[in-house]
Amino acid sequence: MHEFALSALSVALSTSATRRLATRQLRRETFGKLKRFGLEFGNPIGLAAGFDKNGTAAQALAALGFGFIEVGSVTSEAQPGNPRPRLFRLPRDRALINRAGFNNCGAAQLAENIRRRRPDCVLGVNIGKSRSVSIEDAIPDYLKSFEAVYDIADYIAINVSSPNTPNLRELQRPEMLAGLLKSLQQRNAELGLQHSHQPKPLLLKIAPDLSESEIESIVEVAISFKVAGLIATNTTINREGLQTSHAEIESFGEGGLSGAPLGQRSNEVIALIYRLSRGQICAGASLIQLYTGFIYEGPSVARRINEGLAEIVRHEGFRTLDEAVGCRSK
Ligand SMILES: Cc1cc2nc3c(=O)[nH]c(=O)nc-3n(C[C@H](O)[C@H](O)[C@H](O)COP(=O)(O)O)c2cc1C
Repeated sequence: MHEFALSALSVALSTSATRRLATRQLRRETFGKLKRFGLEFGNPIGLAAGFDKNGTAAQALAALGFGFIEVGSVTSEAQPGNPRPRLFRLPRDRALINRAGFNNCGAAQLAENIRRRRPDCVLGVNIGKSRSVSIEDAIPDYLKSFEAVYDIADYIAINVSSPNTPNLRELQRPEMLAGLLKSLQQRNAELGLQHSHQPKPLLLKIAPDLSESEIESIVEVAISFKVAGLIATNTTINREGLQTSHAEIESFGEGGLSGAPLGQRSNEVIALIYRLSRGQICAGASLIQLYTGFIYEGPSVARRINEGLAEIVRHEGFRTLDEAVGCRSK
């Protein structure tokens, strides 16, 4: 269904006329531009990584009213991901469980796809570790993906938090994370110099299944290596408090849970990051990305959230979203 929806979307919105029509219907610039880590966003609602893993539908997705699209995760080489079935719906919980395992066409091919059809909004590229590479050799593997997508990405998200690649989340440990971020930022600076522009914003995507002290260490490392933002959070391995029967959940097997049941935990993590990084990483959650809500609510989800936000901003007597949330643009 996912692949069918992706190609249907791309076909339906393949001409500039249909995209303009969708844009008129679904996209309103309600807040003025939002400036975050040097990039200008039309609105704060983005599509999270994993939906358009290969960057083949980003242009069509942008026409649905997202302020940014994060494509990927991609890895340095193409890989098939886990055997199917690997995606399960939990409708009673408005949730999904997935163990996709980074099925993707490889970083270089993604870059090619984007060059062919670039979306008309901020484009993030999310990079992960190839399954065949051991955790000790992760750095050169990330560097390879980083270099392949560097010139097409507005920002690059470093994924160290998917539960579906064995040992990946070990990269969240401070020593490992410091090594990875150091190498990526070094290459970022070199490539920036070569192309005579600022280094690209690097964002770090973290898991919800971390203790407070683990998050504290991650924030410390992220700040010291000038990470532009944290993406909180990836899917969870926790299965507590669900409406879906225990037996059904068991039958799905391993994977990351996303959607409504993750809401409270990701808000807690965001609040903690806000407290720990105040002033150094832009205040609060200044952008929001979603995936599962798009599956359950359908293509108008970004427009409807943006309309709701605009209503609140107006109602409170503010002119812009930034004024309302008290976030000074950086
Ligand atoms: C089917 C599926 C595939 C995903 N693939 C990725 C991925 O490749 N990389 C990544 O960083 N996150 C991936 N995610 C996680 C989402 O980007 C998001 O962080 C998570 O689902 C929580 O947000 P949500 O509750 O709005 O879905 C995936 C999620 C789903 C449901």
